[in-house]
Amino acid sequence: MVSTATKIGNFSFTNCLMNAAGVYCMTREELAEIEASTAGSFVTKTGTLEARPGNPEPRYVDVPLGSINSMGLPNNGFQYYLDYVTELQENPESKPHFLSLVGLSPEETHLILKKVQESDYKGLVELNLSCPNVPGKPQIAYDFETTETILTEVFTYFTKPLGIKLPPYFDIVHFDQAAAIFNQFPLTFVNCVNSIGNGLLIDDETVLIKPKNGFGGIGGDYIKPTALANVHAFYQRLKPEIQIIGTGGVKNGRDAFEHILCGASMVQIGTALQQEGPSIFDRVTEELKEIMAEKGYQTIEDFRGKLNYIH
Ligand code: SIN
Repeated sequence: MVSTATKIGNFSFTNCLMNAAGVYCMTREELAEIEASTAGSFVTKTGTLEARPGNPEPRYVDVPLGSINSMGLPNNGFQYYLDYVTELQENPESKPHFLSLVGLSPEETHLILKKVQESDYKGLVELNLSCPNVPGKPQIAYDFETTETILTEVFTYFTKPLGIKLPPYFDIVHFDQAAAIFNQFPLTFVNCVNSIGNGLLIDDETVLIKPKNGFGGIGGDYIKPTALANVHAFYQRLKPEIQIIGTGGVKNGRDAFEHILCGASMVQIGTALQQEGPSIFDRVTEELKEIMAEKGYQTIEDFRGKLNYIH
């Protein structure tokens, strides 16, 4: 029997596929749809200290090779998502979940994480260090000094399983520097990658989205090679206790297979889930299982990280 089951930290998932933060995760209703699908888990929309309306519309547009968005972290406030995942965990049938969070300042991030630490929530937490769309707020993980300071402070009080959502890096030196920082901490996972920040898509003579004069995060087919490179670069550099979630450009079983081959223990679907809806998990799971069966792999551990090089 071919299985796509996986583990992140001490949590077991019946399927390694799930949504990416930002897609099908704004409301309880959307999250319930992912919970009811064949996805192995869900991650919530990144919750901030207070609810936010986000940026003006149009702020998300699909194009043939992917998507552009500048949502600006619209969300119902972290407590809304914390309450929902805490409620769900009371049900023994519930999947384990990921609660995505970030503050608009380091102080806010600590305030939120301290509240999660004090709460009854026992699941995984993803700290989003990579949102490119809040005007005036840079992507935190591109500032290595700030990232190291935040993680140092977080781990003085936070003892629940924590991972970080990363932006794509584009230089070998940056992979080395980032990994050297992450390896200092008891992170459960890193999630590679968020959208490629601040791209520009144009229709005729006009930008596609309103915020930031059209600049927005790029997802979909455009970003798969960058996502795979980041997954594999961190797979090569991180201590084995830090697992990798692969996100970027996944729309079929072959894409998921490649993320796992590069080292991902779990694979998230963003743009393609937005375009196709939660039934995508049935299709991609079946396609992934077919590839595994053809190759004689029973579990994802049979090929995870085993990418071949040309010598
Ligand atoms: C957004 O809400 O702007 C997207 C979130 C992200 O890219 O982290």
